[in-house]
Amino acid sequence: MSSKHFIHDPTHLVTSALLSIPHTNPSVQCDIENKIIYRRTSSPQVSIVSGGGSGHEPSFASFVGAGLLSGAVAGTIFASPSAEQVRRCILHRVAKDKGVLVVVMNYTGDVLNFGMAVEKARAVGIEVDMVVVGDDAGVGRAKGGKVGRRGIAGTVLVHKIAGALAAKGANLQEVTRIAQLVADNTVSIGSSLAHVHVPGRREPGEDELKEGEVEIGMGIHNEAGSERRKTDLPGLVKTMLSHCLSTADRDRSFSKITENDEVVLLVNNLGGVSPIELGGITNEVVEQLANEFKIKPVRILTGTFMTSLNGLGFSVSLLRIANTGSVGATMLELLDAPAEASGWSAGISTSTWARQGQAKQHEELAVGEEVQPSNLRVDPSLAKSTLTTALNRLISVEPDVTRYDTIVGDGDCGIGLKRGAESILEMLETAKDADDLLILVNNIIQVVEVSMDGTSGAIYAIFLNALAHGLRQNSPASPQPVVPQIWAKALESSLQALGKYTPAQPGDRTLMDALFPFVQTLSKTGNIEDAAKAAQVGAKGTKGMKAILGRTVYVGGEGFQQVPDPGAHGLAELLLGLSDGLKKGTSQGIV
Ligand SMILES: *[C@@H]1O[C@H](CO)[C@@H](O)[C@H](O)[C@H]1NC(C)=O
Repeated sequence: MSSKHFIHDPTHLVTSALLSIPHTNPSVQCDIENKIIYRRTSSPQVSIVSGGGSGHEPSFASFVGAGLLSGAVAGTIFASPSAEQVRRCILHRVAKDKGVLVVVMNYTGDVLNFGMAVEKARAVGIEVDMVVVGDDAGVGRAKGGKVGRRGIAGTVLVHKIAGALAAKGANLQEVTRIAQLVADNTVSIGSSLAHVHVPGRREPGEDELKEGEVEIGMGIHNEAGSERRKTDLPGLVKTMLSHCLSTADRDRSFSKITENDEVVLLVNNLGGVSPIELGGITNEVVEQLANEFKIKPVRILTGTFMTSLNGLGFSVSLLRIANTGSVGATMLELLDAPAEASGWSAGISTSTWARQGQAKQHEELAVGEEVQPSNLRVDPSLAKSTLTTALNRLISVEPDVTRYDTIVGDGDCGIGLKRGAESILEMLETAKDADDLLILVNNIIQVVEVSMDGTSGAIYAIFLNALAHGLRQNSPASPQPVVPQIWAKALESSLQALGKYTPAQPGDRTLMDALFPFVQTLSKTGNIEDAAKAAQVGAKGTKGMKAILGRTVYVGGEGFQQVPDPGAHGLAELLLGLSDGLKKGTSQGIV
């Protein structure tokens, strides 16, 4: 559990969070004294009021808006608002001519306080109904005992569907009936890796979960779940779904969902899970629903709907789509209906969902584009042996490159180059021998683009693509071997192309310090050995240069005087290897 917070005073935290809501949604107002967020317009419709302790944001205050809640009443963190706060909301903050539905989660304090306010409002002649949501399947009947089932994230589905129906002008009786129908058909369960820390409270003691342990069924106020276990995500999801869906488990068997039902899935972030992890969790849930339960949800909502402060956990809710009867809209239509509330984050429209399954099957991309042949000829076996020598040399210097990069960079340069080199070697083994230089270069480009990432991967890829372009522009009218002059011209134009994408110049402590002298010398002398030696001199010269570009600027500390730039060193070794390989190949009479 982390007890780090930006706001430590719990009163200030709740107040300022409530005050933020009208800033983001001008259609609502804040009665800060009574901690009520309510809609400004009092359109003639059934009003829906909800609320509870704070700490569950965006529930409930950020669900106030057209098509959702009419008013939300907040308590302090994890504590119910008072009956008087709720009474003021019903009587003075929402439209009450067509009646008011109060939706509350099944916690003792909430049921008592909201219930008392409902009775008081009825006593003065207002039509008010109340629906209590207890969707949590985290704790079985035996263990749950008198506490009963609590309300958790599935409650927002009740809010949303009832809110949409009220906005359509249904009467109180209908809105209440449908809200109850949704509540009766919703089952949820949460799990967490840690308890949450309540700002302003002492840090709790030894009951904290151990590394790797997850509490299955934990409530949204740190309530104990049914068990603690070390398990991976698939194992966790399996247990959670089984608690929700298994009819064999007599202690639970809370839901009637079968594979013949239409089901809505809601995967909810308890506040502290990164969006990318929630994505992975959602995918796991969807796959297990399909594979283990033959359930393919007709709607999948994933995001942050009802939190437990910064809870390091998630909950899964399943709603069985039940027949709404005479109200003139299905549960799905009501769920999809637009709502203007800052906390509601389900943006996919009914018409888009209706096209689900109609989309064309995902097709695998064809690997490799058609490369137009050229007139530039190479000897395939010489090209292969030269490249093999060069790439093996690059691989052999990986430890040095890594060491340099650990001193001045983030340490991944050597591995990146090695991975690229190994992938090209693999390609050379498997690809068809080509005597067309452009086919060969394009084969290398495809490997580099897939196997190398980061800045140096991009630089190599741009450079090689520009090289291919330069070679093609200098391709003769009839088939001919590639001569150094063609290489030089093509290399110069690819250097120019590179300049469009990186401002790096010789002297900036990058691989340019090796590449520039190589190209310049090759243009001047036509001799690859001289050119490779010039690259080596350039790379050595980076020792002591201060980096002004690239990652070294941020991470490079001390030590840059002692080591060369790792990228330049790697490139120089590759070029020396090319020169060597060519010499060896030629002398062995491969040509
Ligand atoms: C709410 O909890 C009580 C026990 O406090 C239980 O009797 C009741 O069935 C629960 N209601 C719902 C809707 O789950």
